Amino acid sequence: MTNAAEAAYRAVHARSLADPAGFWSQAARAIEWIAEPRMVFEGTLGAYGRWFVGGILNACHNAVDRHVDAGRGQQAAILYDSPVTGTKRRVTYSELLGEVRTLAGTLRDMGVEKGDRVVIYMPMVPEAVFAMLACARIGAIHSVVFGGFAAAELAARIDDAAPKVVLAASCGIEPNRVVPYKPLLDQALKLAKHKPQRCLILQRPQLPGELMPGRDLDWAAARDHAYAGSRGVECAPVGATEPLYILYTSGTTGRPKGVVRDTGGYLVALAWSMEALYAMKPGEVFWSASDIGWVVGHSYIVYAPLLAGCTTVLYEGKPVGTPDAGAFWRVIDEYKVRVLFTAPTALRAVKKEDPAGLLRAPYDLSSLRALFLAGERADPDTVRWVEGQLGIPVVDHWWQTETGWAIAGNPLGIGKLDVEPGSTGVPMPGYNVEVLDEAGHPVPAGHIGSVAIKLPLPPGCLPTLWQQPDRFRETYLEEFPGYYKTADAGVFDEKGRLSIMGRTDDIINVAGHRISTGEIEEVLAGVPEVAECAVIGVHDAIKGEVPCGFLVLKSGVSAAPEEVERAAVAQVREQIGPVAAFRLALVVGRLPKTRSGKILRGTMKKIADHDDWTRPATIEDPAVLEEIEATLKARRTVDGEKVA
Ligand code: COA
Ligand code: AMP
Repeated sequence: MTNAAEAAYRAVHARSLADPAGFWSQAARAIEWIAEPRMVFEGTLGAYGRWFVGGILNACHNAVDRHVDAGRGQQAAILYDSPVTGTKRRVTYSELLGEVRTLAGTLRDMGVEKGDRVVIYMPMVPEAVFAMLACARIGAIHSVVFGGFAAAELAARIDDAAPKVVLAASCGIEPNRVVPYKPLLDQALKLAKHKPQRCLILQRPQLPGELMPGRDLDWAAARDHAYAGSRGVECAPVGATEPLYILYTSGTTGRPKGVVRDTGGYLVALAWSMEALYAMKPGEVFWSASDIGWVVGHSYIVYAPLLAGCTTVLYEGKPVGTPDAGAFWRVIDEYKVRVLFTAPTALRAVKKEDPAGLLRAPYDLSSLRALFLAGERADPDTVRWVEGQLGIPVVDHWWQTETGWAIAGNPLGIGKLDVEPGSTGVPMPGYNVEVLDEAGHPVPAGHIGSVAIKLPLPPGCLPTLWQQPDRFRETYLEEFPGYYKTADAGVFDEKGRLSIMGRTDDIINVAGHRISTGEIEEVLAGVPEVAECAVIGVHDAIKGEVPCGFLVLKSGVSAAPEEVERAAVAQVREQIGPVAAFRLALVVGRLPKTRSGKILRGTMKKIADHDDWTRPATIEDPAVLEEIEATLKARRTVDGEKVA
């Protein structure tokens, strides 16, 4: 760690905690306000206080209009690159403004008003970004649903958010297939109790959808009509504490968990991060190889790069297979990307296909200044491999859907700190991070515990869950009074650097996506032949973890175990979606339990991952663990394909 960088970081972090109002009011100068906040922080409001109370602003104005006003109109705002369709498109800030103004007008024509919810179910196309910004422009609250979710998941989100309209594309394109979104949307709307008034459908030539008269409108026709009639609308004034979006994330079972993002704090935190964490300057190219369906996509494909006047790359493709493991390097070279942000799983996939980096050789990667990783633990092997390939700083940083931006990282804009591979760096400003024992007492450096953030959370983090304030308190604030529980386990080293070891709840991380094993268990329990089940995350060389389900059949079931396993896999794909990557279902005679009836998932995981394991003293029948081990050794196949 260079002493100067360390001293500078410590000074910034200390000031953010000692004088939060001073620190964040200075950061808030990066934002254009219609009315300045009355209070930077008001501790008596909400569950733990609210940021920038009384402030009025508009997220779309800050991301788009102001840059056109400042003369950036001809600069690329979005560089759309879609190897899956063979399409590229450069959208300037001026064009972006035209599209967003017009779409905002269309939304108004469809009856959408400030505070109304709009569900967006779209792949990585520029229209999806226009849609998010158009909502922000009129003060409507968007809720983007990732395309890899099944109809039932979409329906649950529609019921919870109760949108006035849904904006969707007719299809998404995966390397191995075209995913028909429109039929999935139709099915979701049949399942949902809430019925949106209108759907605006972007017809993609690869697979147009059937429009339902009276409900569905054609996107292109509506756009042309609105353009012809100059139907654009201007930015609405929005309160800093009013929501910009709702983003659903895996909780445990039951009703989906809608993370609410307020407007003012979020924009301030993102603007701070672009400069101080990612060291980006206006006009430079930022590429977050994620999806707009995830928080990383919301924050670092859409809002932050545009707020900062950067150019964002919108990549509709994969790290491998579109067409090969050189895809990332091609994009960096072609658009002169300064900073790439991706999940370690993507790099593991590249490393597996091209360990020697032969596909990298033809490209000029000299524009690239840093690579940021998040979404799951960055294994040191992958970090070292990519450092060797690129010769630039590789920064692991840790965050959650709930926080909206990094909790810990390496703030390159302040000065690069030395960080060991395996550690996610130091806490960002405003985050007072502590590692606690079960009783809620801080543990010394070197000891693993529950990572918690002392309240208040900094700007940008969730103030509550959509229409579930009690669940917000119960889930995050109750176990450790005075703290936000991250549900991650971790450890500080002597130098104050944090390592994240994994979740303390039933969430697993599959290819950087957050999946609840409890939710999969709920689906498996609904398979008619299944009496009991347990799902654990098992190690996977590319995806980090994949879910593995153990099924105990009801007595008297005549179906062959393989048949039930196949049905179980199909059911999870049908109900949750392909994103769960659930391919491993194993019928077993019984599940290992403690004498009090608790399923020993932790021990099962150790057995599956070939880690050392011991028989828990409280186990009901020790022989069950050997049975599980034998079943795992003989890992079955699904549809004739080996699954692990
Ligand atoms: N719409 C519809 N289906 C989708 C989808 C989308 N937007 N995204 C993924 N899927 C499907 C995939 O086609 C796949 O289906 P399959 O079971 O029929 O093959 C399934 O969901 C799992 O997808 P994915 O997890 O992407 O696995 P993959 O094997 O297709 O690709 C990686 C593996 C590592 C290349 C890929 O997961 C990846 O690039 N991950 C990066 C993760 C990331 O960006 N995370 C965000 C946090 S930074
Ligand atoms: P999501 O809300 O989908 O962004 O997932 C958040 C979870 O992903 C966190 O709670 C962690 O468990 C995990 N995670 C995210 N970033 C990292 C990281 N850099 N290192 C380890 N785990 C991470």
